[in-house]
Amino acid sequence: MRVLSLLAVLALEASGTVALPSFATGLKRDALTSTFCGAPNQYEVLSGTPWIIFSMNYNYQSIEGSCCTGLYETSGSGDAQRIHWSSIWDIDATVNPDLVKGYSFIGLTQNLETQLNTISSIPSTYTWTVSNSTAYKGNVVYDFMTSDTKGDSTSSAAQELMLWIRYEGGQIPLGYDKGAVATIDGLYGKDGWKLYQGLNTDTGITVSSLLVPEGNQFGDDVGGTFEGDIKDWLLALSEQGVFEKTTYVNVGNAGMEPFWGTVTFDNTLGLRIDL
Ligand SMILES: *[C@@H]1O[C@H](CO)[C@@H](O)[C@H](O)[C@H]1NC(C)=O
Repeated sequence: MRVLSLLAVLALEASGTVALPSFATGLKRDALTSTFCGAPNQYEVLSGTPWIIFSMNYNYQSIEGSCCTGLYETSGSGDAQRIHWSSIWDIDATVNPDLVKGYSFIGLTQNLETQLNTISSIPSTYTWTVSNSTAYKGNVVYDFMTSDTKGDSTSSAAQELMLWIRYEGGQIPLGYDKGAVATIDGLYGKDGWKLYQGLNTDTGITVSSLLVPEGNQFGDDVGGTFEGDIKDWLLALSEQGVFEKTTYVNVGNAGMEPFWGTVTFDNTLGLRIDL
């Protein structure tokens, strides 16, 4: 939800003021070799890939336990490029249970800050396997940011867009109390997606969350797979008047929002913007 600092981080990376870990090159890993446990942020730009791996625990003060993002390996190239990673939660359910603790994710670093109508596709595949020893609360989600201004992800004119493909434990989106503002059918093979909108009072940015129907989510208790063109979601939002097709896609990522529970998600993700 709070991707603002991501852009700030990427800007720092671009200007070379943050030293990259020396192991960021030559990625070919077959075991969990890197673990990132942000307090609040820990990340690595993965050279030779379009990605940054991120552990963003913006509410780390409310984490009794830990929440980490793990890297196994990246593989392939082009449309077949994948990242094998994990999101590892061991979060006490009694401390601020309804507060999202952060965001564990893989973010795009390439072909951002381009107008939606100049993007040919945003192909993605997202597979997750769940190992939990308790119940848990959280989601599996794509999170993008758009603005009519290139590069803007911080002003109140920027928009945050979430696509919830799975959610557990009673997580609800911003604006849920006002009810859905639209229903979208025929997206990623499912009807009845519900669009909610609400203001994130921390950032001043309106968040539009599109939720897969609760009873027809992707996957099950032990895991799932999603495959689709993320551009289809953005176009569906533009058809609802959320933004024009000329708006800029400034931030894009996929991950998990942790609230509480002891659970590990073992994930394989493909995500890229093709111009
Ligand atoms: C694991 O999570 C599922 C919900 O996805 C829940 O139904 C199940 O009871 C949990 N397992 C344990 C051991 O708590």
